[in-house]
Amino acid sequence: MPCAAASFPPPNIRSEMDTVTDAAGLRARIRAWRGSGARIGFVPTMGNLHAGHYSLVDIARRHADRVVASVFVNPTQFGPREDFASYPRTLDEDRAGLAQAGCDLLFAPGIEDVYPYGAAASARVEVPVVSEDLEGALRPGHFSGVATVVTKLFNLVQPDSAVFGSKDYQQLLVIERLVRDLALPIEIVAAPTMREANGLAMSSRNQYLSADERERAGIIHATLAHMARDVHAGKTLDEIEDTAKTALETGGLAVDYVQLRRASDLRRPEPGQRTGLIAVAAAKLGRARLIDNYLVDL
Ligand code: PAJ
Repeated sequence: MPCAAASFPPPNIRSEMDTVTDAAGLRARIRAWRGSGARIGFVPTMGNLHAGHYSLVDIARRHADRVVASVFVNPTQFGPREDFASYPRTLDEDRAGLAQAGCDLLFAPGIEDVYPYGAAASARVEVPVVSEDLEGALRPGHFSGVATVVTKLFNLVQPDSAVFGSKDYQQLLVIERLVRDLALPIEIVAAPTMREANGLAMSSRNQYLSADERERAGIIHATLAHMARDVHAGKTLDEIEDTAKTALETGGLAVDYVQLRRASDLRRPEPGQRTGLIAVAAAKLGRARLIDNYLVDL
């Protein structure tokens, strides 16, 4: 069910939440909370927050006594021709929204706190195989940048649990594998995707869309839902993917991929596989590159 929450957070709220920008300040705060037995929940973000991000804070609250959110636009997960320089930075609004959402502490580090030797000389974390296809194939190095920064943020915050959105489904799988493989004592919580009224998944990059494009972008969710119905109707996976690609292209989108994959590992389904599937898509519309997914079995 699409969820519209465009007016959230309300304006003019007062913030009781603290902000720390350095590792030492963060560690002191976390140590004090831990000393009193509090469980720490964590929501990592790149800022320019919307209702989808705030829903993660809400979920984190249910898993922890204290919630830390981070805002850090991570250079190592952007490709050389991507939007790192122009990525929207709105820290004052983000701070107000996080306070309203019930966040206890905002960690907004500078680049030197996350990359003390500089981004290019940083130690890297790789999560092979699951990082290599789909987004990983189209954005080389992206998931290495994500896994690296999330590992660093986990070590800085040392949370008991951390919440990630299912919208970035491949990212969620990468993080789940990272945590299990490196035996990090952190519970990863998957959050549902918050949507605009027309089904468009909320995203910081949606502001690159004109009003008309934003309306048309609802076709992504509609097409993925249609793919799920076609699976249940017994159509072949090739046929379903072809129909979906045509639908998106007819809607004016430049399709990077629109496919049915195994939800467990995003590999291609076995011939005839009908259960445990997820429909995934990435497409460009105007200046924005949009991704979304739909669990077929839901
Ligand atoms: P960012 O794009 O800011 O997203 C932060 C978190 O919000 C991610 O877990 C993402 O999946 C989630 N999210 C985004 N849109 C959502 C929506 N419509 N509904 C629910 N959750 C949503 O993802 C990143 O930042 C970065 O890669 C990060 C993990 C912070 C590492 O730099």
